Amino acid sequence: MMKAIVYYKYGTPDVLELKEIVKPVPKDNEVLVKVHAVSINDWDWALLIGDSLIIRLMSGLFAPKKQILGSDIAGRIEAVGKKVTKFKPGDEVFGDLSGRWGGFAEYVCAPENSLALKPAGMSFTDAAAIPQAGMLAVQGLLDRGEIHAGQKILINGAGGGVGTFALQIAKLYGVEITGVDSTGKLDMMRSMGFDHVIDYTKEDFTKMGKRYDLILDVKTNRSVFDYARALSRNGVYVTVGGSMGRLFQSLLFGPLVSMIHKKKIRIVALKQNKDLAYINELFESGRLKPVIDGPYKLEEVAEAFRLFGKGDHKGKIVITI
Ligand SMILES: NC(=O)c1ccc[n+]([C@@H]2O[C@H](COP(=O)([O-])OP(=O)(O)OC[C@H]3O[C@@H](n4cnc5c(N)ncnc54)[C@H](OP(=O)(O)O)[C@@H]3O)[C@@H](O)[C@H]2O)c1
Repeated sequence: MMKAIVYYKYGTPDVLELKEIVKPVPKDNEVLVKVHAVSINDWDWALLIGDSLIIRLMSGLFAPKKQILGSDIAGRIEAVGKKVTKFKPGDEVFGDLSGRWGGFAEYVCAPENSLALKPAGMSFTDAAAIPQAGMLAVQGLLDRGEIHAGQKILINGAGGGVGTFALQIAKLYGVEITGVDSTGKLDMMRSMGFDHVIDYTKEDFTKMGKRYDLILDVKTNRSVFDYARALSRNGVYVTVGGSMGRLFQSLLFGPLVSMIHKKKIRIVALKQNKDLAYINELFESGRLKPVIDGPYKLEEVAEAFRLFGKGDHKGKIVITI
């Protein structure tokens, strides 16, 4: 048996329950991981509240089909399936299990290709913070954003998971960085190294007359034309997520904006775990350190979700088990 945080109906964090359930058994191509740390992502929140038709179609129309949330995990391999070649019991691993979930538990089974070895000098807490937010930051800035030296960059939603990774990665490129978030996060953002900060509760960066060469957006709550206005000539706007309607608008009108204004509008489709090796390299050379809110205990998961839901967290909320 094992302890896990389970939910049987969509709702507020109140529907999350700590229960004793049967410990999973790995299939031939899977490993069984003793989970030491797990972080909260936007996906977990969306699947908890189940407030959109898309989520309900994916996860169950009336009740969640998978009752344990949690994708970004770090832990130690306890057992391996017959066909597993990459890992052995005792290996310390981390990775993004989005799609199969199950991380808010003492044990989880995962296909071997969804995990990477954790560097010895990286704590389980740091490792659990990295997979999704770290990948979105790398793929947003490097793959889709084509970041390069001398640029003026703006990160919208800069004080959360993706933003705090994106700042540290962007800094390596010798760029000037502006971060946008709410009042309570601005001091932390300044101390982390943002050159300029904007409080979105008081100012709208798309109407301030400033132009940026690259905008990385984790919130996408304005029109694609507003974002285009804040881009310099040949500038690139990259969204990693936000309002579905706005994302759809970016898809629809992005090519038009590119044609008329020579500005690029791009969307990141997350490639899970693709850049873990790169992040490990940055971590081991001391150039990147996850910003952790917590860690919280398994018994405190509902409270941690409440914090996440209010948007009051700084960096990544991590739960240690
Ligand atoms: N593209 C993909 O394939 C993919 C895959 C997985 C996830 N995602 C997306 O990736 C994103 C995850 O971002 P994250 O982990 O950084 O989230 P996060 O930790 O919740 O951070 C978001 C930050 O944005 C701030 N914020 C809220 N409203 C804002 C506004 N109007 N303007 C500016 N900032 C605002 C929040 O602070 P306050 O609440 O205090 O304002 C918070 O600090 C989500 O949008 C998710 O849907 C995309």
